[in-house]
Amino acid sequence: MDKTMTNRIIPFSPPDISEAEIQEVSKALRSGWITTGPRTKLLELRLAAYIETGRVDLDCESQEAVEKFSHRVVCLNSATAAEELNLRMLGIGPGDEVIVPAYTYTATASAAIHCGAKVVFVDIQKDGDRETHAPEMDYERLAAAITPRTKAVIPVDLGGLVCDYDKIFEIVEEKKSLFTPLEDKGDTPLSGLSSRIQRAIGRVAVVSDAAHALGARRKLGGSWKNCGQMADFTSFSFHAVKNFTTGEGGASTWRQLKGIDDKEIYHFYQLLSLHGQDKDALAKMRPGAWEYDIIAPWYKCNMTDMLAAIGLRQLDRYPGLLERRSQILKKYDETCDALGISHLIHCTDYMQSSRHLCLIRVPGIDEGQRNQLIEWMAEKGVSTNVHFKPLPMMTAYKAEAAEAPNAYDYYHNLITLPFYTKLSDEDVEYVCEILTKTIMEFRRSA
Ligand SMILES: Cc1ncc(COP(=O)(O)O)c(C=O)c1O
Repeated sequence: MDKTMTNRIIPFSPPDISEAEIQEVSKALRSGWITTGPRTKLLELRLAAYIETGRVDLDCESQEAVEKFSHRVVCLNSATAAEELNLRMLGIGPGDEVIVPAYTYTATASAAIHCGAKVVFVDIQKDGDRETHAPEMDYERLAAAITPRTKAVIPVDLGGLVCDYDKIFEIVEEKKSLFTPLEDKGDTPLSGLSSRIQRAIGRVAVVSDAAHALGARRKLGGSWKNCGQMADFTSFSFHAVKNFTTGEGGASTWRQLKGIDDKEIYHFYQLLSLHGQDKDALAKMRPGAWEYDIIAPWYKCNMTDMLAAIGLRQLDRYPGLLERRSQILKKYDETCDALGISHLIHCTDYMQSSRHLCLIRVPGIDEGQRNQLIEWMAEKGVSTNVHFKPLPMMTAYKAEAAEAPNAYDYYHNLITLPFYTKLSDEDVEYVCEILTKTIMEFRRSA
């Protein structure tokens, strides 16, 4: 290792913010409009166009684009909010069960709990998916967990690898006869729409947690689909550590539902995210239009134009950011292969992941030794992480008392490498050298 290399400090995941994002935020700040407004609306349109076409270069201010792509995406202040609103849109609440993989971040489960539903954890496949090694749900256990109370399953596209939605849809279709759609009791202004949504879906809803997976693709029914086009409802995260960031932020999208106008769904997301207020700040600005109604005491989780400004310029750069991730990953994969360390396979002939996380699993070590390796790498300047500690191991979820031996086994020897587009080729080289050195030292001492 050369001398300059020995002194590097590699943080875990700083954001990639260019002058373009800084300029756009300045423009938003100077524009006189900083909360939800024109930039948020434009970002929604552009994200919808990206999800539907994979393109970031369409003129989304044209009338044609407005007609085609508006009302398909709603931007919010986090993926947690997006996921909660997805479940609320479905009318999920007390008495309902929501199936969540044991191997995920807390937001996947807490959003369902916020709605009053019961979370049912399902363990993952032993060592993850056979081909990609992604910690995907065990689909036999998923099928067995569906009861007449189950209203949704939340697959998690962890690390940017898209779950097997063909399989998931097959299972929920097979269990269709157990499903009873919500009755419209007229008790909230949303209950009629929720009931129609549940009836249109006609089975357990597939509500994807795609916090990591904007830009990922997978074959569904033999043809390529973009993440956001597969599940009934999908949430994305634009948190500071995500591939695509607005600092904090997120978005929801959904598949066209038979007999339900996207405009109506979009309108209710707006109401849910802004106090149940029937006019947003922009609409209230119109001359003489101050008066508004509150149709229900709902939530406050709208995106601001300052955040959307970051997103607009991130989206211009996103294909390039994904390409850079691909180059870095290639080097990491080669290093792991040489060391006999298992890693996620982000791309196959049926999947192109968004390459969000580089998860590696070191064979033959226990949890304490894994933590030791993390410490040794940190001492040499390389920050790593663990995605994730399974939820049933967390204090908050002890009550669910789920048995998830495969999730625990997957976690016990897992390390997440630092993986972001600001890493230079030399940084990547350094991480690989430190990983190699650490593993070799460990193997010698064991
Ligand atoms: C799998 C998963 N789901 C949901 C979230 C929540 O995202 P946000 O911080 O945007 O609410 C995260 C955040 O890291 C996550 O990893």
